[in-house]
Amino acid sequence: GARAGAIIPITAERAAPLRPAATSLQDCRRCPLWQRATQAVDGQGNRAADVMLVGEQPGDQEDLQGKPFIGPAGQLLEEALARAALDRESLYLTNAVKHFKWEPRGKRRLHKSPAQQEVLACRHWLEQELREVGPRVVVALGSTALLSLVGSKNVKLTEVLGQALQHEGRWIVPIYHPAYVLRVPDPALKTRAMEVMVAGLALAKQLA
Ligand code: URA
Repeated sequence: GARAGAIIPITAERAAPLRPAATSLQDCRRCPLWQRATQAVDGQGNRAADVMLVGEQPGDQEDLQGKPFIGPAGQLLEEALARAALDRESLYLTNAVKHFKWEPRGKRRLHKSPAQQEVLACRHWLEQELREVGPRVVVALGSTALLSLVGSKNVKLTEVLGQALQHEGRWIVPIYHPAYVLRVPDPALKTRAMEVMVAGLALAKQLA
C-alpha cells in the first residue's frame, strides 16, 4: 500500500497490471491448453516454402519432443509426401493448435479434439506463420486446419476435399488428416483415403 503523494517507481509489473498477450509461443496463455501440455510445438521447416501443411495439434510424441509430425500420423504423412514426390525439407509444417489437448486414459494420454474457441485463439500464431512464410499453397490436413484457415464452420471438409480453394490470395487444398487415414478400419477404404491424400498433395505441388 503506497502513501498518498508518494512517488511510485514504475516497474514493468506496475505498468502492466493485466497480463499482456504473449509475444513468445512458449508463454502463450490465449487459451487454457498450455496447462496440461509439456510445451508448445511450433511449426518447422522451410521458412520460404511455397507449400505449407497445417495439421490439427501436436500428438503425444510431438508434445514430448517439441516437433510437429514425428509420431505415427507423421510417418503416414511422410509416406503420402513421398508418393506425391514432395520433399518434407522443402515444405513448412505446422498445426492449427500448438498445444497437445489430452485426457488421461489409464497410463495413456488420449487425444482430444480442440474446441472451436481454442482453434480461434491459436489463429494468432498461424497467421504469424502465414505472414512470415508466405506460401502460395496451404494444405489443410483435416477439418480443424480447414476451420482455422477459412475461419468458418460452414465449409465442410467432405465437400471440398482435394479441391483448390482460393482464399485471401492463396490456394488452400483440404485433404484428410493422416491420423484419420490411420484409423480407417477397412483396408480398401484406407487405400482410397490414402490415394485422396496423395492426389491433394500432388495438386498442391502443381499449384505452387
Ligand atoms: N497430428 C497433427 O495434426 N499434428 C502433429 O503434429 C501430429 C499429429
